[in-house]
Amino acid sequence: MVSPDTSRKISLAPLQGITDYHFRNAFNTHFIRIDKAYTPFLRLDKGDIKKSQIKDVLPENNKGLHLIPQILTNSVDEFIYFSKYLSDLNYKEINWNLGCPFPMITKRQMGSGLLPFPEKIEHILEKVLDIIPTKVSIKMRLGYENDGDILKILPILDKFPLSEIIIHARVGKQMYKGKPNIEAFEKCVGLSSHNICYNGDIDSVATFDKLNKQFKNINNWMIGRPAISNPFLIEEIKEGKTISASEKLERFSSLHSYLYEQLTGNLSGPGHTLSKMTHYWEYFSKSFSNSRKVYKKIKKTNTFSKFEENIHDIFNNEEWVA
Ligand SMILES: Cc1cc2nc3c(=O)[nH]c(=O)nc-3n(C[C@H](O)[C@H](O)[C@H](O)COP(=O)(O)O)c2cc1C
Repeated sequence: MVSPDTSRKISLAPLQGITDYHFRNAFNTHFIRIDKAYTPFLRLDKGDIKKSQIKDVLPENNKGLHLIPQILTNSVDEFIYFSKYLSDLNYKEINWNLGCPFPMITKRQMGSGLLPFPEKIEHILEKVLDIIPTKVSIKMRLGYENDGDILKILPILDKFPLSEIIIHARVGKQMYKGKPNIEAFEKCVGLSSHNICYNGDIDSVATFDKLNKQFKNINNWMIGRPAISNPFLIEEIKEGKTISASEKLERFSSLHSYLYEQLTGNLSGPGHTLSKMTHYWEYFSKSFSNSRKVYKKIKKTNTFSKFEENIHDIFNNEEWVA
């Protein structure tokens, strides 16, 4: 069992379509308070930020959260625009996405698609950092196609005042497949004088313990998918406590009701709400016995009443196994 360690910070990773303000608030009010959360990336669409993305960052929708908005861009002007816009909303830091692996993004040299071009990263930081009103942190992968990219980038980043570098220890081409490359991450730690945060597949207390032992100087950790499948994971890591399966099911059920109520109150019609709930259940189902059957049941649902009936069924007949 891990002993509580208050210097250890664990943040909730951004997941587009999942960790929106409904989810962040549900999580933050029903489980351990999150040290930090990041919004899924904001992007300019024909010069504007989408309404749904604006809603997601509005401070009134994110009360009680230490939230850092994330941006996706390779343009100096857009970077400056975002920083000013978010500073006007009172944000002190923005996070630059250099990790997105999707071809639509990478082929335009954004996200992890910018990693093979260290000189462009340097140029953007040189142009923006002195004049923008917010601090900047970076979330990046090891590289786009190979993990050598980051070895060229970290010495450049050392020249700039960044608040943190979060490293998802995969390359872009891997998408979310295969394993994080811990050896490559280890090389990065020695190459940077910035605060480094580790991210990638921290899927259990045991995995966390192993990484924590290996990287004694790392105090910042980020967890995404495993904390959505099992929202107790961060609490178990931070507080070192064991929570019974029945308590977990009860507390999860309460988070679930809150999330469902928030969505039914805010989204229009069953189609939108149920597709969103299905998205969440892709992850939640992993913590239940018969997880595939559970997910299938939710996926097939197209009315509120059937959804509620299925949820009742799952909570009464399946066990929490995570
Ligand atoms: C569906 C999905 C959406 C994601 N959206 C974002 C995003 O908007 N910004 C970002 O930096 N990372 C995004 N990620 C990557 C996660 O933040 C995280 O780096 C990755 O899942 C590895 O961490 P994990 O193993 O703890 O989930 C996304 C991942 C998934 C699976």
